[in-house]
Amino acid sequence: MKTRKPTTSAARGSSSSSPPSQTLPLFSNMPRKSSLFKHTLIATVFFLLAIYAFFSTFFHTPLPPSDSNSDSSSFLLDLGGVSSQENPIPFPERVKVFMYDLPHKFTYGIIQQHSLARGGSPVPEITTLNYPGHQHMHEWFLFSDLARPQSDRLGSPVVKVTDPEEADLFYVPAFSSLSLIVNAGRPPGSASGYSDEEMQEQLAEWLTGQEYWKRNNGWDHVIIAGDPNALYRVVDRVKSAVLLVSDFGRLRPDQGSLVKDVVIPYSHRISTYTGDFGVKDRTTLLFFMGNRYRKEGGKIRDLLFQILENEEDVVIKHGTQSRENRRAASRGMHTSKFCLNPAGDTPSACRLFDSIVSLCVPVIVSDSIELPFEDIIDYKKFSVFVETTTALKPGYLVSLLRKVPEQKIIEYQKAMKEVKRYYDYTHPNGTVNEIWRQVSQKLPLIKLMINRDKRLVKRELSEPNCSCLCSNQTGIIDSLG
Ligand SMILES: *[C@@H]1O[C@H](CO)[C@@H](O)[C@H](O)[C@H]1NC(C)=O
Ligand SMILES: *[C@@H]1O[C@H](CO)[C@@H](O)[C@H](O)[C@H]1NC(C)=O
Ligand SMILES: *[C@@H]1O[C@H](CO)[C@@H](O)[C@H](O)[C@H]1NC(C)=O
Repeated sequence: MKTRKPTTSAARGSSSSSPPSQTLPLFSNMPRKSSLFKHTLIATVFFLLAIYAFFSTFFHTPLPPSDSNSDSSSFLLDLGGVSSQENPIPFPERVKVFMYDLPHKFTYGIIQQHSLARGGSPVPEITTLNYPGHQHMHEWFLFSDLARPQSDRLGSPVVKVTDPEEADLFYVPAFSSLSLIVNAGRPPGSASGYSDEEMQEQLAEWLTGQEYWKRNNGWDHVIIAGDPNALYRVVDRVKSAVLLVSDFGRLRPDQGSLVKDVVIPYSHRISTYTGDFGVKDRTTLLFFMGNRYRKEGGKIRDLLFQILENEEDVVIKHGTQSRENRRAASRGMHTSKFCLNPAGDTPSACRLFDSIVSLCVPVIVSDSIELPFEDIIDYKKFSVFVETTTALKPGYLVSLLRKVPEQKIIEYQKAMKEVKRYYDYTHPNGTVNEIWRQVSQKLPLIKLMINRDKRLVKRELSEPNCSCLCSNQTGIIDSLG
């Protein structure tokens, strides 16, 4: 967690000055190290602020349903199958979200460009275009959810409002991940002339010019950037918003953090396993199919291939994204006990979510991975985490996994079945609702940042960065406002 930074550096600072162990290190060194003291104090204040934010989040969790609330129960009657018991957040207390009606060049226009670059013909009405399937389809699911009339989405943790004056939060539904792949696989120059970078610049320009963005410096905005490379050019201009991201692999600590932002799952691309628990039909011990050669953190993949490819009960195959390969991966994950999840170019990868819906126990070899919804999901209940250097010891991984008893695997599978819907963007109470729940919980912190931004706050440029809590490091804000 990035906000820990100030405390760890404070701790490091005081221990490096090696005080007698019984006295208070901070004060015994004060005369000599007054700047250290100052740093430590500042860091502590920021840490406390972060704690405060967490606590206010915690205490703002929804109250139990009030049956006397006729407003919400009368709405709920229309919602086939969803009773007020299943929907514990009273209507008026839910966070209100306004979705920008973006210029089409940031939404449907990108679908059109993607289609044109693949030989599609122009259509008269671009809003009839289908969003193409890929692993970062989450932007489409969130957009579609908020595009529905509020009367169709009463089970949601957030209320859609059409008047920005009523909104707590502002959702920016740009298809930033699709934009990245419009020209993917096409030789430069052969494509439509579409430029993702231009799209990013135009979006940042448009957004930062909006009245409601300027009102609170964007703190109360929510922007989706699911692909680790999405919006990479303009992230500095929009980083005060809550970012919906797959990981923090490409973000600096002052751009993204677990405190301010929300980690969202990839949309799984393989079919859900519907069979029984157990290992009878799972003859393969460990399965992996994907790109053997990746950059940066993903270099580990090639090494794992070398160690594992000659093991009898392991299936490890190089394969790129294609319909054919997805079918093979689906078959493989449904017939294996364990599924390997090494880091890709960044710590996250879509395969984890594919394994979960396949009830194939994830073996995660990615030391700095961040996982979605970790406030309510305990990944240790259904995944095996192996540190990278350990995983690379010849023979270690297979002997570890061969020793896991069948009963334990069944326990893992049951735990996965329980959480499966959190990774299903099409489930009526699945990923989309869970993302909105997570976003709602940021509201107390957002309000804190908005109010704090209005007053005089002295920020030391030399102090350690503490993620969102001091993104404006320009100095002193002094105003009469
Ligand atoms: C939806 O899921 C949440 C937990 O994620 C749960 O509290 C709620 O009761 C569920 N609602 C319905 C309608 O199933
Ligand atoms: C602190 O943040 C600034 C930008 O706000 C950045 O340039 C700098 O590299 C960051 N320092 C560290 C140690 O992360
Ligand atoms: C940072 O603070 C300065 C005032 O010192 C203000 O002019 C500027 O708009 C702020 N920027 C952000 C991104 O908050």
